[in-house]
Amino acid sequence: MLLLNGLFLISCGALISAKWLPGRIVGGNSVAITSVPWQVSLQINGRHFCGGSIYREDIVITAAHCMASIRPISLSVRVGSTDSNSGGQSVRVSKILVHEDYDENTVANDVAVLRLESRLTLNASVRAIPLAYKVPRTADSARVSGWGAIGYQKPASSTLLAADVAIVDQDQCNRAYGGLIQNVMICASAPGKDSCQGDSGGPLVSGGKLVGIVSFGNGCANPNYPGVYANVAKLRSWIRNAANRI
Ligand code: ARG
Repeated sequence: MLLLNGLFLISCGALISAKWLPGRIVGGNSVAITSVPWQVSLQINGRHFCGGSIYREDIVITAAHCMASIRPISLSVRVGSTDSNSGGQSVRVSKILVHEDYDENTVANDVAVLRLESRLTLNASVRAIPLAYKVPRTADSARVSGWGAIGYQKPASSTLLAADVAIVDQDQCNRAYGGLIQNVMICASAPGKDSCQGDSGGPLVSGGKLVGIVSFGNGCANPNYPGVYANVAKLRSWIRNAANRI
């Protein structure tokens, strides 16, 4: 959680945010996993808590803030299923590497990579997504997906949802957030559509590339505050390097 100009900006999960929030991918549609086969559900004790994306058969990308006080032993991923509770492949995580410059106060560099205990079997429902090498342009269309929670202190939605949003001008987003938006972040919004609690760590995809990682927002689908994502094109070399040394 951030405190800026007397305004609480919600990074994740907390009590304060929940009462403001519709509490799931807002304004989205149900989608099959085959339409977003890189989508991962991160789970502890079989319960979804954050999203992620498949980078390689043995590597998943997620948000650093999802990994706060999490040890690999308790962590598994489910891939290849539209239902977060069953089906597809469930694999344990053997290592977690959080960006060294992740800052929980500013939420800069909100990225982590996970090494899986065994390789995923890739198929129509389980596929890696390439990293963007260029920052998308303002107004480019992008799709965010996830199993965000269905409401305050309610369990996560078991149905995968996706919403189409548009990239927001960096300066405009920075003004909306009172100067908080760094170049390792990128913003996206659409009227009535957004990612929300429990979608964190999950993919924002544009032009077949991973352009963002669900990071934070002030509320969800708040017309004055776009969703904020880790900017994958800016974090690309860290991710590539991290995947090779983890
Ligand atoms: N930090 C939240 C989570 O862990 C995601 C918030 C995204 N909010 C938004 N308005 N786009 O699920």
